[in-house]
Amino acid sequence: MPDTPAITGIDIPPSHEHAPLLGDGRYQHDAGGVFRELYQTHGPVAPVLLPGGVPAWLTLDHQTLRRVTEDTATFARSSKRWRLGPLLPPDWPLWPLLGGGQAQDSLLYAEGEMHRQRAGALSSALEAVDRNEFAARCQQISEQLLARFAPAGAAELMADYALQLPVLAMSWALGAPEEDSRNLPADFAAMLSGGPDTIAGWHRARAVVARLVAQARRRPGANVASRLAAHPIALSDEQLVEDLLVTYIAGHIPTAYLIGTTLRLMLTGDRFTDTLRRGRLSVSDALHEILWHDTPTQVFAGRFTSRVTELGRYRIPARDLVLLGLAAANTDPALRPDPAAGVRDNRAYLSYSHGPHSCPMPARDLSEVMASTAIEALLDALPGLSLACHPNQLRWVSTIWMRGLESLPVRFDPAALSLGTPRGLPWM
Ligand code: HEM
Repeated sequence: MPDTPAITGIDIPPSHEHAPLLGDGRYQHDAGGVFRELYQTHGPVAPVLLPGGVPAWLTLDHQTLRRVTEDTATFARSSKRWRLGPLLPPDWPLWPLLGGGQAQDSLLYAEGEMHRQRAGALSSALEAVDRNEFAARCQQISEQLLARFAPAGAAELMADYALQLPVLAMSWALGAPEEDSRNLPADFAAMLSGGPDTIAGWHRARAVVARLVAQARRRPGANVASRLAAHPIALSDEQLVEDLLVTYIAGHIPTAYLIGTTLRLMLTGDRFTDTLRRGRLSVSDALHEILWHDTPTQVFAGRFTSRVTELGRYRIPARDLVLLGLAAANTDPALRPDPAAGVRDNRAYLSYSHGPHSCPMPARDLSEVMASTAIEALLDALPGLSLACHPNQLRWVSTIWMRGLESLPVRFDPAALSLGTPRGLPWM
């Protein structure tokens, strides 16, 4: 994450004088270690700094996360409440995920009845996606992507596969033409990077969704955008663009990272490959293992205090930013009293967050369909799949919010390729 100079007018309060900078080198290398140390020093909520020297608070356990996400009156969603908001330049790289600019008008930052209605409308539109048809489409997209690189006997699975499939599958469900979606993976990655192309990426992605909304108004079809446009709550064009953009972004990157990190586990973890070979664990088990231990959503932004409130050992001022420590909460022994017991049937992780703003239930289903279809199609099609570098050489994307691989180089035997024919796992 690029270093951002201190922002004029933002003072570091005494509570934050020794606070760590989220996104610095240490954080990128070992975020889990940073969360553990913060918990030991500060307890369930810690002062942290964001790039530019912007103070915030980070939750670090399960109970605090539940309190912050359930008590929406005290920990409100609209970033217009943030007292530091007016001091931050419009091109501050973290704005896209903190509700800067037009994103403020999306359901993500809506509150109360307005949020209830918009989240309900989106959930109904997503719920209506036929799961079998969606899975078949994901399979078809997987096979198309595989066909592009399979003859080469080598691929970079993040760029060539994991980052492509969710956006193409979501474009199909939302109703966007494929040619419009082609550049979206790069635009979303730019938005999340916090780098110089963040704001431009955001504008490019927004333009694609604006065309999708215009099409849903002009020629409604059997898709999420058209169903949302026709919903009785009568969203404006602007609201439709914002809610569909949120759906795209919220769905694409975490699912892509979930696919990549799960493949990494399967390709590098002896314990896992061995248990898979013996048929004791499924791809679905591997996905849930990642959602427990290596979630794509590490820290989620955020909530804004509506009044002075006690949280953990601190008295948090009104109109401050509280970040949700999802990965940290997943390691809380209160969620898994016996970590050695395994995670097979335990889905109590908080990677989808909690409370009224958490990831909508039908969205979670769709992400699981995308991820499991992508992984199974890949394992079926590419026998002899193995990592093309040492596991220690794999690098993680540099962002505060997410955990995902920068690249996942693999090799396999092109001669044995068999697309579309279900087969056993490559190592069987
Ligand atoms: C591995 C996959 C996914 C993960 C880990 C994930 C996680 C999350 C998290 C942490 C939030 C924020 C919750 C909060 O602020 O408390 C969220 C919100 C959201 N997610 Fe997901 N998500 C995933 C996939 C998807 C997919 C596939 C879709 C769409 C089809 C989606 C749509 C949404 C939407 C619309 C919201 C905003 C909800 C609101 O504010 O009311 N997500 N998700």
